[in-house]
Amino acid sequence: MTATAAPQHVLVVGGGGRENALAWALARSAGVQQVWVAPGNGGTAELEGCIQLAISEGDQEALLKTCREQRIDLVVVGPEAPLAAGLADRLRDAGFAVFGPGADGAQLEASKQWAKALMVEAGIPTAGYWKANSREEALSALEAQGKPLVVKADGLAAGKGVTVAESVDEARAAIEEIFAGRFGGDASLVLEERTHGPEVSVFALSDGVRMVLLPPAQDHKRIGEGDVGPNTGGMGAYAPAPLLDQAGLEEVKRLVLEPTLAALQARGISYRGVIYAGLMLTETGPSVIEFNCRFGDPECETLMPLMGPEFAAVLLACATGQLATAPSLTIAQQCSACVIAAAQGYPGEIRKGDPITSQVENGTDLQLFHAGTRRDDAGVCHTNGGRVLAMVAQAGDFDAAFAKAYAGLEQVHFEGITYRRDIGHQVRSN
Ligand code: AMP
Ligand code: GLY
Repeated sequence: MTATAAPQHVLVVGGGGRENALAWALARSAGVQQVWVAPGNGGTAELEGCIQLAISEGDQEALLKTCREQRIDLVVVGPEAPLAAGLADRLRDAGFAVFGPGADGAQLEASKQWAKALMVEAGIPTAGYWKANSREEALSALEAQGKPLVVKADGLAAGKGVTVAESVDEARAAIEEIFAGRFGGDASLVLEERTHGPEVSVFALSDGVRMVLLPPAQDHKRIGEGDVGPNTGGMGAYAPAPLLDQAGLEEVKRLVLEPTLAALQARGISYRGVIYAGLMLTETGPSVIEFNCRFGDPECETLMPLMGPEFAAVLLACATGQLATAPSLTIAQQCSACVIAAAQGYPGEIRKGDPITSQVENGTDLQLFHAGTRRDDAGVCHTNGGRVLAMVAQAGDFDAAFAKAYAGLEQVHFEGITYRRDIGHQVRSN
């Protein structure tokens, strides 16, 4: 296979809305003949050009066996947990091309302390911080500052490890919770200065040396309209976020992404996958809130419909360190809007097992991606998670894109369906 060839057989690992969107975008990429998804969900079970495998994302041996049996040309790993557990290393060692960093690079997300140290060393703008590996160390750092700090558990915490404290007492309680073992084993954390400003997500596809940037996206983390209430995995998104114009994106590349890649290289890490920079646009410029080692969810669902037919070839080029000779990725100049339909109770205790009905026809400008869904033996789709579906639409402007997405949601029914009606309020005129 030459450097610029597209993969024919692709395996997507993961079972959320992000992986449904990735499988869909890869299946319609030029040259791709077949996509396998493990374990997938109720959406990937019905996706054209897609075969679902009952293999969990943590089962490295079964995934390796599938790569061999199906002669997989490219593996795309969606979630962070298998990356942090070394799935990409295992498959690469066996000779397969994998889009997704090894366990070394995945520390960008899997250890806040590691990521902060890298940022400081590389001069990347980020909030000041203190690391602590014991309760006493953390409490004394907090007392010394005498102000509410942001408290972040060190390891992967499925989006629940961060407390933006309003008071010193709240920060203290968050520290106690981490050292009480809520986030597992050897507890450690980072305390951070609070920064202010709108947030935006930027995604770089990297081959270890070079990178391609996707349009910036904005997520909506809170459950409630008006951005109130508890944090969720993300209730909706839109792209390209006008918060960062082309010049702003170039600035982020220069100040954040290039130095990050250089710092990874300096550590001997060939990072082949997504560098997701969660940024806050402060009065003094962009500041990194977090790095993730994978696509955002629901940012991925929002972005995938904008990807041109070269998408699979570009991911393969990243996986093989050959971005220099890859076809350039065309990106549709459209506004993409995504609204998440969640289960009743999310992000707390949720209802599960309710049948889903939908009259939505997936098309070129409207897609219904599944997240927490499951098909029973008769093929009936049921709710099976907190975030159930992602309704995504594209149009020439955001007003039209969101109107289409919300009209699509009117065609979808399940007991307790919950969604925010104000997704994209920053860019909608109504
Ligand atoms: P994370 O789990 O790292 O995505 O953080 C969750 C949310 O906490 C972010 O999306 C921000 O809204 C908020 N956050 C994280 N770090 C800071 C900070 N230093 N200052 C203010 N807010 C923050
Ligand atoms: N949408 C936020 C995340 O994927 O972490």
